[in-house]
Amino acid sequence: MHRPAEPKVEATPRKLFIKTYGCQMNVYDSARMADVLAPIGYGLTDCPDDADLVVLNTCHIREKAAEKVYSELGRLRILRDERRARNQGDMLIAVAGCVAQAEGDELRRRAPAVDIVVGPQAYHRLGGMVRRILADRGERCVDTDFPVESKFDALPEESAAQGPAAFLTVQEGCDKFCTFCVVPYTRGAEFSRPAADILLEARKLVDQGSSEIMLLGQNVNAYHGLGPDGEPMTLARLIREIATIDGLSRLRFTTSHPRDMDDDLIAAFADTPKLMPYLHLPVQSGSNRILKRMNRGHDRDAYFAVVDKLRAARPDLALSSDFIVGFPGESEADFGDTLELVRQVGYAQAYSFKYSPRPGTPAADAGDQIDEDVKSERLQRLMDLINAQQLAFNQAMVGRLVPVLFDRAGRKPGQIIGRSPWLQATHVETTPERAAALFGQTQAVRILRGAPNGLVATLEHEASGATARPCST
Ligand code: SAH
Ligand code: SF4
Ligand code: F3S
Repeated sequence: MHRPAEPKVEATPRKLFIKTYGCQMNVYDSARMADVLAPIGYGLTDCPDDADLVVLNTCHIREKAAEKVYSELGRLRILRDERRARNQGDMLIAVAGCVAQAEGDELRRRAPAVDIVVGPQAYHRLGGMVRRILADRGERCVDTDFPVESKFDALPEESAAQGPAAFLTVQEGCDKFCTFCVVPYTRGAEFSRPAADILLEARKLVDQGSSEIMLLGQNVNAYHGLGPDGEPMTLARLIREIATIDGLSRLRFTTSHPRDMDDDLIAAFADTPKLMPYLHLPVQSGSNRILKRMNRGHDRDAYFAVVDKLRAARPDLALSSDFIVGFPGESEADFGDTLELVRQVGYAQAYSFKYSPRPGTPAADAGDQIDEDVKSERLQRLMDLINAQQLAFNQAMVGRLVPVLFDRAGRKPGQIIGRSPWLQATHVETTPERAAALFGQTQAVRILRGAPNGLVATLEHEASGATARPCST
């Protein structure tokens, strides 16, 4: 249940700048932090220079992600000192998200400019922390608890509409403890929100104009929230319930674990037309030996079996994955198994990363770490293969009529961008009036070109004209 919003205490609006790193869960959390801060007078600005409060919503997944935060904090400190020197007021600096959770103490030591450190499960208390600091300048706050109360019960209702395609967090945390991963430590144990709360939020998103919803969770297909009958509800049942909402035309979910891809969820791809034919199903490695050392809980054949079932249920299903190269002990033969798996599955898209040892995770202590240049060389080979598959997938769409949900304006007037059912960014050029009318609509467009990162299309009746010019995607 949602608590009523706190009364406004500020007459003059204050400016809030939020910078988001990491995964879509952080994108969702950033929007909710804005909701938490609105009742105490903070409105969003898109530039940090004149912000009264800057929130860095951080990611700890790889070393580079965490280091970015420290360099950003250095820049912010200079900005704040300049503002103070010009007597233009103060700037509070808050670090939220997974770096805050994992490195709360180190953050305070390495970045004394930080006023607030707040973890991903405690940000519903951010308003109170800000007010306390404003009342007693100088007091710094750290809140990296995993509170017993769920933040979802304490968050105010979403204030701003998310636009045509919305995110909705249904599950958080992870109990799987892959040996390379910080998420179980930064986000805590698996937790599923009650189905009734999710349905309420989904209806609200649709009422506010969203026609696509992406259900989010670190292990979204491990969802087991309380159903209306008091029994745990699976993700498959939740999807079928949400799909009954009038006005909602598309549903997606991410990120799934191969181990939790049960038959009923696979069947949902066949029996729920609103469920889009795209699935992010990270496998990380194609080597059984490495999968075991990663503690993924499945081997390559189990992954192939899931892929086969999925494609039988929904033949046009496009798949994406994450890969880690250079995990400790990965031999050339292990890496070869990964390349071979990629060839066998055929991905529409995939993300590949060099293994980054994370303090506190078991794999970081392994004695057989792989040299950085070997990692780089393998990463390049894997990316070459994946990029070729992605381009081929996009080019195979040329000439087809594809329904696109338009959710973003392009850079120039008359350009509009949307997503195909297979999540391809699809660019259309038309008149500024037509582009404006298309925003938020789903419209079938003719695909002219497949580019590495998306599609170029034209409105059907403009297909023979010269108005559609390929843009660089
Ligand atoms: N829950 C999801 C992944 C969340 S993290 C899953 O199980 O697939 C997103 C991705 O970051 C992972 O899929 C993995 O490919 C990558 N990743 C996580 N830890 C990493 C590390 N230590 N080094 C490199 N990549 C990592
Ligand atoms: Fe990390 Fe593994 Fe959990 Fe995914 S399943 S969040 S990779 S521990
Ligand atoms: Fe990063 Fe935390 Fe997401 S570590 S990937 S922001 S769960």
